[in-house]
Amino acid sequence: MFEKLNRLHFANLPTPLEPAEKLAAHLGLKSFLFKRDDLTGLAMGGNKARKLEFELAGVVAGGYDTIITVGGQQSNHARMTAAACRKLGIDIKLVLGGKDFTEFKGNLLLDTLFGADIRYISGSDEDEDLEALQKKWFDELKVEGKKPYALPLGGSTPLGTLGYVKAMEELKSQLPDDKVQIFCPVGSCGTLAGAVLGAALFLPNAKVYGISVSRTKEDIYKRTRELIRESAKLIDVDPDLSKTEFFVYDCYHEEYAKHIKIAMDAGEVCARLEGMIVDQVYTGKAMAGLFDLALTGVLNKEEPVIFLHTGGMPEVFSDTLKFGEYKKCRKYSVEEVQEMKNQ
Ligand SMILES: Cc1ncc(COP(=O)(O)O)c(C=O)c1O
Repeated sequence: MFEKLNRLHFANLPTPLEPAEKLAAHLGLKSFLFKRDDLTGLAMGGNKARKLEFELAGVVAGGYDTIITVGGQQSNHARMTAAACRKLGIDIKLVLGGKDFTEFKGNLLLDTLFGADIRYISGSDEDEDLEALQKKWFDELKVEGKKPYALPLGGSTPLGTLGYVKAMEELKSQLPDDKVQIFCPVGSCGTLAGAVLGAALFLPNAKVYGISVSRTKEDIYKRTRELIRESAKLIDVDPDLSKTEFFVYDCYHEEYAKHIKIAMDAGEVCARLEGMIVDQVYTGKAMAGLFDLALTGVLNKEEPVIFLHTGGMPEVFSDTLKFGEYKKCRKYSVEEVQEMKNQ
């Protein structure tokens, strides 16, 4: 099915499927598993590694010398695309935006490590604003004689989406039974679209749940269905999508990139029960949505729940906690310790 398409190698696959028994018990579920796509590798891992394997194969084949892509201030897609470009020897330009900043932290700091050229919109990460600046820069690069490739937000193209179709084939090989409930965060919709198409092809009894981090349900259903249609054409399949149930939950969509309390609380539960880190923008919010659906009885408690851990690790380091805000840390002076030694 995928053989006629070019594909590069960025991700360490298969990623592990790890049970989380304490979290399952906490939510009253029979079984909970993390699909560890945060461990794909490529500059600290995440879902973009799978998408870029397909998307950038086309860029290499087309002889492009520069990639110009867009994202929010803490874009994981930007960081991973920058890393991939460096591996390929391609120039990288990033159009980023969001709240103003004075210090480079988290993903933004890593973007500088990869030496990406950055143009930043202070105060907006709206798609239209980022795309307008991307277009202007793209035109400038062409005038300079470059051969730029404009990669859209989140790498969510029909080609990139195939990364998650293939991920479902991989997941099938790790499961004894396809009666499972799969969860993922949803931003630009490529991961969800790939998961739904992949489930239709390889896990026909699975239900897929997408938790929105930024868009309304209506917008997500529309974009996801479009991507599914276009991706299916690339691999010459026409699956019966009416059998694959897919649901979108958008209760927290208005708070993109804000560290909302409900996601922080869900993150704390994961960390303290399972030693698992989730970020606040994507996986923490998806976990909060999953908690809502488990605790309100929407999920089937008997069927395994699989959480696609899509990464986002560097974002965790975009925040700081001031001394005094964490009550379980006590400081000692060197003199106090000297006294202890003298006793
Ligand atoms: C960590 C993480 N999880 C999930 C997503 C959402 O994936 P998609 O944009 O394919 O919907 C992103 C997108 O940037 C991400 O960085």
